[in-house]
Amino acid sequence: MLGPMPDRRPVDAATWAEINRAAVAKAICELAYEEALSPAPLDAAQTRWELRLASGAVYRFHAVRRIWGQLAIRPESLVCGQRNLPVDDAVGFFLDARETLDISPATFCTYARELYNTLLADAHIVAVRAPYTADALAALPDTALQRLLDGHPKAPANKGRLGWGLADHAEHAPEFGGAFRLFWLAAARDRATLSLEPGLVEETLLKAALDENEQTRLKEACEVAGVSPASHLLLPVHPWQWQAQIAAHYAGEVAAGRLVPLGVFGDPFVAQQSLRTLANTRRPESLHIKLPLTILNTSAWRGVPGKYMKIGPAFSGWLAEMANRDPALRPLKVLREVAGAFYPHPHYERVPDAPYQFCEMLGAIWRESPEQGLSPGHRPMMMGALAQRDARGRPIASALIARSGLSHADWLERLFDAVAVPLYHFMCRYGVGFIAHGQNVTVILDGSIPAGVAIKDFQGDADLVDQDFAELASLPPAVLQVLKRRPPAHLLQHLQTGHFASVLRFLSEALADHDGFDETRFYATLAARLRHHQSRHPELADRFALFDLFQPKIPRIAINKVRLAIGYGDANQRPVPALGTQLDNPLHLAEMVLAAAGPERRHAMSGASAR
Ligand SMILES: Nc1ncnc2c1ncn2[C@@H]1O[C@H](COP(=O)(O)OP(=O)(O)OP(=O)(O)O)[C@@H](O)[C@H]1O
Ligand SMILES: [Mg+2]
Repeated sequence: MLGPMPDRRPVDAATWAEINRAAVAKAICELAYEEALSPAPLDAAQTRWELRLASGAVYRFHAVRRIWGQLAIRPESLVCGQRNLPVDDAVGFFLDARETLDISPATFCTYARELYNTLLADAHIVAVRAPYTADALAALPDTALQRLLDGHPKAPANKGRLGWGLADHAEHAPEFGGAFRLFWLAAARDRATLSLEPGLVEETLLKAALDENEQTRLKEACEVAGVSPASHLLLPVHPWQWQAQIAAHYAGEVAAGRLVPLGVFGDPFVAQQSLRTLANTRRPESLHIKLPLTILNTSAWRGVPGKYMKIGPAFSGWLAEMANRDPALRPLKVLREVAGAFYPHPHYERVPDAPYQFCEMLGAIWRESPEQGLSPGHRPMMMGALAQRDARGRPIASALIARSGLSHADWLERLFDAVAVPLYHFMCRYGVGFIAHGQNVTVILDGSIPAGVAIKDFQGDADLVDQDFAELASLPPAVLQVLKRRPPAHLLQHLQTGHFASVLRFLSEALADHDGFDETRFYATLAARLRHHQSRHPELADRFALFDLFQPKIPRIAINKVRLAIGYGDANQRPVPALGTQLDNPLHLAEMVLAAAGPERRHAMSGASAR
């Protein structure tokens, strides 16, 4: 099924050059941070830099080193070669760096394909975002804002979407903002699994996606097809997934009548930043639906593992119960996965160690929308958006801070109290670590001021400590069986790398760059809020020692190096990040600076209030 011709004009040369320059700046920054590239300073002040590659290519640029050690590169300053030509070719940069980065020919070409898709998407995003100031972006509803974001801040090829062509992007990618309706299948109950949160009935899931007329139409389609609710459940499928994957891979199931294609029904949905979580455009507070997409994007095939579909309601229900009961988690809302469905493939499922992309093709998660149940005046914003800049380089956070009337330190205190502190508490008290990256965390704003956090995505992005915490005893056994148990240092990484190095690193840099807000103050403020929390919970002293956020050194985790090293061969597991040399911990650095300052300056720097 070919969709309508996408409204995509060819990218003009100036935009193409701008997008490519930005991608090269990001690639050098992140690959140097991962210690795969070694730029050298050209002046004592370390503002002018040079990158010499094994191929003989040379790149020069202006940059400052930030507190995490990464280089904040001015893209417009990037030049290459002996004649200092402007840089305008990101794939060409990777070709120049291929030997240094040790990228195999096969990996290079597929990575280049990912980059080309990313650049095409970025060109569209930059064009659509151009008229918006940071202030205007800050005022947008979450779903509208998600159309205009740059995406994963660490991965240069973050919109690889291998498997999608032009029309697929235009119909289903968030930056096009196109709303589409879901495809529905009737799925044999003796093959599919459906987990529901206690008290929930299937009818509620239908109501979340279809109005009364559409429910009637869907039920009529079932009658015409001769399927009864007793034998089959109703399962939404992403329309791309149906035509590109399910129709062929599950053709035997369709022929046997165990899967019955019914057609397209219900409300229009729009893709969030993760592509596969869809929000209802008619009723924003209605359940989100997360659907498998067998495309490779940002390192992983975006299917849904059956084992997590089964435990979703029980696990997220338990997390929500803990959050509701514990006053220290008052700002935190768990977006519950109220239902999960899965239909295993009849053959691939039985192949031990089959590549995971083949085992996760058909299923669904119904998840609470962050728009649901909000207090008056409150609104959600995907946390990664805070560091997003407008065309003039102003970050959304800068606009929110200005609107709030608060100082930077006061606004950041609210942010850390709303997000970092509850995440830290969840880990210390319950032994649950969330990979709290900028797409998994949603800040709840009261007007322009952070007032809370919504967390989601517990399929593999949440782990339990490997010790016998009494607090974990109430977790249902089925959940305990599935979730991974990890040593405390591993959970700590979810917070330090997943949140601090992958979200706050970009926020502190953006605020330093645009607003001149000192990064040491940023992390001193964070340290002060965490210490304040510790002082209020002496009963958790042992846990704070176990999960020590203030050590001088912390692991450096590399995702791009791994992507380039492992290539694209099929695997039965998602890729695991690599370790580099240790990083200087900005929280420790900030506390050292504070300790060396006099008491007055210390108070001013940490923004330490007793809120
Ligand atoms: N700021 C960001 N940080 C991390 N990932 C981002 C960001 N913006 C966009 N993304 C995209 O979101 C996805 C994050 O992957 P992750 O596994 O957390 O989510 P998911 O399971 O696909 O979906 P969901 O979180 O909606 O349940 C990737 O596809 C990534 O490219
Ligand atoms: Mg996610």
